[in-house]
Amino acid sequence: MVSHPAPLLFTPLALGPLTLSNRAIVAPMCQYSAVEGVAQPWHQQHLGGFAASNTGLIILEATGVTLEGRISAGCLALENDAQEAALRDLIAGIRTYSAVPLGIQLGHAGRKASCGVPWKGGMPISVRDGGWQTVAPTDEPFNLDAPKPHALTEAEIAGIVEAFVAAAKRADRAGFDLVELHGAHGYLIHQFLSPLVNKRTDRYGGSLENRLRFALEIAAAVRAVWPKSKSLGMRLSASDWVDGGWTPEETAILSQKLEALGLDFIHVSSGGAVRDARVPVTPGYQLDFAATVKQAVSIPVIGVGLIVTPAQAEQALQDGKADAIALARAFLDDPRWVWRAADAWGLTLPSPGNISGRRAKPGRAIG
Ligand SMILES: Cc1cc2nc3c(=O)[nH]c(=O)nc-3n(C[C@H](O)[C@H](O)[C@H](O)COP(=O)(O)O)c2cc1C
Repeated sequence: MVSHPAPLLFTPLALGPLTLSNRAIVAPMCQYSAVEGVAQPWHQQHLGGFAASNTGLIILEATGVTLEGRISAGCLALENDAQEAALRDLIAGIRTYSAVPLGIQLGHAGRKASCGVPWKGGMPISVRDGGWQTVAPTDEPFNLDAPKPHALTEAEIAGIVEAFVAAAKRADRAGFDLVELHGAHGYLIHQFLSPLVNKRTDRYGGSLENRLRFALEIAAAVRAVWPKSKSLGMRLSASDWVDGGWTPEETAILSQKLEALGLDFIHVSSGGAVRDARVPVTPGYQLDFAATVKQAVSIPVIGVGLIVTPAQAEQALQDGKADAIALARAFLDDPRWVWRAADAWGLTLPSPGNISGRRAKPGRAIG
């Protein structure tokens, strides 16, 4: 049993208007299982285990604000009625057994769109091979041997901001409690932030103020339509892990501006902008970035990245590095991770549905 008597992990946390019952968050995880951007039964089983297991919040996978904004043909999208209806049904199903807060990550993959699924190599797919034309701040591709993206015009940039707004309205109607804007991992928002990727010479490129413009325009436009009663935040890569790239200090400045626009949380990840980054993936390797952001803002900061055990998550919270912890692979390994974390402190959680009281423990007979 972990020694600290009152674990922060099980202390409620407000992300703006949304209060989480504990601070263990299911990080967004692409499932590559959608059809034409529409959620499938796989998504029910993927999310259902987390929803029935007292997770503090579930953030659904990167969801393209347009079909062209998807990372792969198997990714979710939220630009039409069929995609919205499938997500509404998915949420309605979960709501029959769980009140877990549900968020969705809205994004645009930019020059990292039109890729194959990871288990087939994840490589870019050209239009000729069944992919689609990608877009980016300039026409420089992520993979030098990949098809060139189309360099966005200012009018097209405005169109993508509007696509974020339209997708957020659909997310609201579908019943989500939270939107996380995907500003990390080298996707379109991050492509504009990083000087290694954004080589534009107009008002969207060059100075820090110009590179922040696209992210801030999206945040402001979505905030204007996303209900004040729901939570809105952004996931950021705090570093490109390459000299001359996007930095933790710039991440802190952007986070302050996002807070000023009324965002409710920042989720701190790293990397993804360029191929030649060397990322030291050690336990909690992104937590110092979260701490840097946390010192700059007063809204909650979510830390993530190779955090596996409840003790490790609790230590990060006790050290003040983050206000909540997101986990991806640990939840894939064990959707009941929160139950086992509660066990570590001898806590009994409210039973969602009718299963969590039925645990194999000494002294508990069955039958
Ligand atoms: C299967 C899988 C899919 C992922 N998909 C997304 C995604 O859709 N959006 C995102 O921001 N990060 C995505 N990630 C990254 C995770 O959210 C997380 O930041 C990363 O895996 C590090 O956390 P972990 O060490 O707890 O797995 C994905 C990770 C995995 C393992």
